[in-house]
Amino acid sequence: MPGEHVRIYEVGPRDGLQNEAVPIPTAAKRRFVELLVDAGLREIEATSFVSPTAIPQLADADELLRSLPRAEGVRYPVLVPNVRGLERAAAAGADAIAVFTAATDAFTTRNIRMTIDESLAAFAPVVAEAHERGWWVRGYVSTAFGCPYTGAVAPGRAVEVAGRLAGIGVDEVCFGDTIGVAVPDQVTELTAVADRAGFAPPAIAYHFHDTRGTALANVAAGLAAGVRTFDASTGGTGGCPYAPGAAGNLATEDLVYLLDRSGFVHGVDLDKVLFAARFVAAQLARPLASKVGQAGGWDPSSGAPTGRA
Ligand code: COA
Ligand code: ZN
Repeated sequence: MPGEHVRIYEVGPRDGLQNEAVPIPTAAKRRFVELLVDAGLREIEATSFVSPTAIPQLADADELLRSLPRAEGVRYPVLVPNVRGLERAAAAGADAIAVFTAATDAFTTRNIRMTIDESLAAFAPVVAEAHERGWWVRGYVSTAFGCPYTGAVAPGRAVEVAGRLAGIGVDEVCFGDTIGVAVPDQVTELTAVADRAGFAPPAIAYHFHDTRGTALANVAAGLAAGVRTFDASTGGTGGCPYAPGAAGNLATEDLVYLLDRSGFVHGVDLDKVLFAARFVAAQLARPLASKVGQAGGWDPSSGAPTGRA
């Protein structure tokens, strides 16, 4: 519906960068986040307080989070896998976290070395402690549409895990298409199954990867079903070392273009996102992978592209 509000939850600094092999200086990460704030993004998943052996790129989480500009209405959720991570996040000034499990044991075992049951048992005290501190908590269900180790995932399975995350008190659940295998009909179906289980569409978030070029089509299906929160990564970077083949997140610039031209309100400036996307591409020394990153936006009054260097 034109005029309706859509939340864009930026994951570039975390999901986008976590799998990059070349170490990116902390100052460049901070600059990237500053550019995202300047572009109007208000929820920016900044980093992860996980084992530095598991994710070496984000080993500077403590220093980075401490150094980020605090602005009214801007939230920097950080990934936390255990109480140790929560304590580190607290010391660095966090006020929002994300815990992350998955729809399959095969994936959680490789990613966080716990079964789904074990992960929920580990997260319960983390979520309780976060709420005691007045923090906001998201819970991810990764591999919600398919797993790199066991294949197809039934929607009921992903929704069951979401229900258990809600049971330990998370404020929002996000279904992740970690390896980018979903197609729009599956999004429609998962949204309906979630709705029947008590998750109304406006209460859930989707996290799509564009690995096979279906991410924007999946967003369109989510929008049609009433979902109003989508994750995206400026520059379209992204991947998980424990999810082989999980290339690029949905690019924020591609999402913003779709939402703008469809009349949704989101508060994010496309030209400024494109500027931030070029900044991150320069850091990674490679061209932008996103479509709008290559073509620019479009000014319907003149017909000319916008936001290009
Ligand atoms: N922060 C920093 N270091 C941590 C940590 C945290 N939150 N949690 C554990 N560690 C360290 C331990 O001190 C230990 O270090 P050592 O080897 O130097 O002694 C090491 O990590 C292993 O700790 P352990 O408690 O045995 O955990 P594990 O080996 O079972 O791993 C996780 C579990 C969850 C800590 C680890 O798998 C992890 O961080 N995974 C994150 C994966 C990820 O972020 N994936 C991408 C997101 S989808
Ligand atoms: Zn992801």
